[in-house]
Amino acid sequence: MKKKILVSRLYPKEGIRLLEKENFHLTLWEEKRPMTQVELIEKAKSHHALLCTLTEKIDSHFLTQCSHLEIISQFAVGYDNIDIDAATGFGIPVGFTPDAMSEATADIAFGLMIAVARKMFFLHKTIINGRWGYFNPTGNLGFELKDKTLGIFGLGRIGVKMAKRCKNAYDMDIIYHNRTRNKEAEKLLDATYLGFDDLLLKSDVLSVHCALTPETKEIFNRSAFKKMKPSAIFINTARGPIHNEKDLSSAISSGEIWGTGLDVTNPEPMQPDNALLFMENACVLPHVGSGTQEARNQMSVLAAMNIIEFYRNKQVPHIVNPEVLAH
Ligand code: DGY
Repeated sequence: MKKKILVSRLYPKEGIRLLEKENFHLTLWEEKRPMTQVELIEKAKSHHALLCTLTEKIDSHFLTQCSHLEIISQFAVGYDNIDIDAATGFGIPVGFTPDAMSEATADIAFGLMIAVARKMFFLHKTIINGRWGYFNPTGNLGFELKDKTLGIFGLGRIGVKMAKRCKNAYDMDIIYHNRTRNKEAEKLLDATYLGFDDLLLKSDVLSVHCALTPETKEIFNRSAFKKMKPSAIFINTARGPIHNEKDLSSAISSGEIWGTGLDVTNPEPMQPDNALLFMENACVLPHVGSGTQEARNQMSVLAAMNIIEFYRNKQVPHIVNPEVLAH
């Protein structure tokens, strides 16, 4: 019998073509909007496998209804939309797409850092609003990044690429905090491991590259921002709920930190009247870190290969819960 694969969004064709070449029956959801959870459950019930992404809530309710699924393949490196424990409990392997978007996401973190230091988004808006005025010798001043200290929270694949960019472009000193030390990256970047509080105290730019977990949820809150330098920039391109957005807003408006660059917000989407969007030193993007043709194509290939290899060889090349296949 042909395996039926439910494809939850319009993914890049590269990966879809690979699936089409196999002996699968594909159901493609072709609307631009994601399915509601009711629609997703309804459809998933008649399929063997699901290709999904962060817009789909694969929680214990979904998994209880769809425990028959043979594999879930996530088009993303992050998988906080999926209850991994529940999937593992039902024996469902979960694939993901690590590293495909590391360069693209590091570019966005690096770009946001410069944009905040030079108030770029705000100054762009002054032109649109007819307030360019005259060249102002003492106005619109940002600061330079040369020789500053970059703090990385989560020195993994993306964090290393951000750190390399900062070291090469501005000779920045690299400090970091991780659950476990990354000795290889320490050598590569001459990076120094610090405790979380020291990272907060010493970073001129603090860039978040960790996963969202119960331990990292809102770890950047009022008390964390209070420990940072008043001149510091906070960058988050990982997951919005790692910071508390009200606390972040207040930290900037009260001068506890200089500014922020966000590609992820808490919640998403950010509402258009959010105070951060009107601040001189805040630059916000709508979760586009992986938004390059190269990254998205490669993500679609990895997500497809996770399904293909599972049905060919009972292996998932990039798997979140390998213990499921070990049994
Ligand atoms: C990811 O991969 O987790 C990004 O947030 C979306 O590409």
